[in-house]
Amino acid sequence: MTLHFGFVAAAVAAVLIFTWIRRIYDQDKVERLLAHVPTHVFADGNNSRARYISDLRTLLESGYRKYNKRDQAFKISIPIGGYSVKYRVVLPKNHLEEVKHLSNNVFSWQLASRVIFAQDFTGAPDRGAWSGKALRVGIHQNLDGITSQLDARINRHYELNLPQNKGQSATINMMAFFVPTVTFVTNAVLVDSRLSSDPEWLQRTAEFAVNRYGAADDVRSWPPYLAGLVAPFIPSVRRLQEQRKYVMRTLKPVYEELNAKSQLSDNDKAERRKGMFGYEWLWSGSPNDVTLLDFSDTMMRTLIAAIHTTAKTISVAFVDLLAQPELLTDLVQEAKDAIDPDGQNIDLNKLIKLDCFLKESQRLSPVFLCE
Ligand SMILES: *[C@@H]1O[C@H](CO)[C@@H](O)[C@H](O)[C@H]1NC(C)=O
Repeated sequence: MTLHFGFVAAAVAAVLIFTWIRRIYDQDKVERLLAHVPTHVFADGNNSRARYISDLRTLLESGYRKYNKRDQAFKISIPIGGYSVKYRVVLPKNHLEEVKHLSNNVFSWQLASRVIFAQDFTGAPDRGAWSGKALRVGIHQNLDGITSQLDARINRHYELNLPQNKGQSATINMMAFFVPTVTFVTNAVLVDSRLSSDPEWLQRTAEFAVNRYGAADDVRSWPPYLAGLVAPFIPSVRRLQEQRKYVMRTLKPVYEELNAKSQLSDNDKAERRKGMFGYEWLWSGSPNDVTLLDFSDTMMRTLIAAIHTTAKTISVAFVDLLAQPELLTDLVQEAKDAIDPDGQNIDLNKLIKLDCFLKESQRLSPVFLCE
């Protein structure tokens, strides 16, 4: 469930942020294309980078009131360094359905993330156009099976990392606690116990998720025309390359196993959905003959995409819950009611209040807007 909400969070964030960055290298063209969209700036004239970092929410909110409420779009500058997306366009809500249904070659999160995360320079794994869909479909089709697996895994992690006796307490830093938690849990869905119980694999997967963002930041501090020259020497970029090789090396046996069972090349796509773990059912929508590089890059991207979005979503939700402890009674009661009589399974469809609570939490603090 945790994972599921993470991907939903990522998808919602992708739509919410509305990054219009086609042909980003061609800034003039972007400039011309966006000329008719008003640029919204801080009213007091302080538009420094520090201001954007500390006060973006105010800017978005005033832009929302000034433009979006009147069904108009506006754009804001993104002063994040030399190599950067120059603008973000924030569309009014009535475009949501249209944007959600635009095809990938018109409005592409894949292309956007290549630019935002400076992918061409960091060498972070690109992701096939099909894998987002494969993941969503796979997760939904396997949700029931996944849920009990996750439940056991989460309990185990909490037992190991949180005080278990009544009256005991501990202090946690939300992200420092939830990044390893989500890494531990996500791996239980994506890979089987050979890897999900391997401490090195767990540590490395948490690390490369962090490092991927770090590498993007480091590249973006250079102007685009220098980024390509400098990138191969940036330590975080080198580490990312090394991590990518590690993933490929480690996944090779698993890949060969699936290949031997023709699960990666069978024309019958339903055949590919078989299996309990992500590494087995991820390929249902993929083209035939997934290569080892596709395989390991997709797995790596999936982990990168899952870990931080989910950790952030949960951290924010916990803070929201702490601020309104009166909600807890209802949420706990709902959770109790959703457990079937033999105490084995949870009916996720009954967790309506929890679902609403998480959606509201995400609406108020979209994962891409909180630091
Ligand atoms: C602009 O805003 C930033 C962030 O709030 C602040 O640190 C900086 O001092 C401001 N600059 C001026 C000239 O007021």
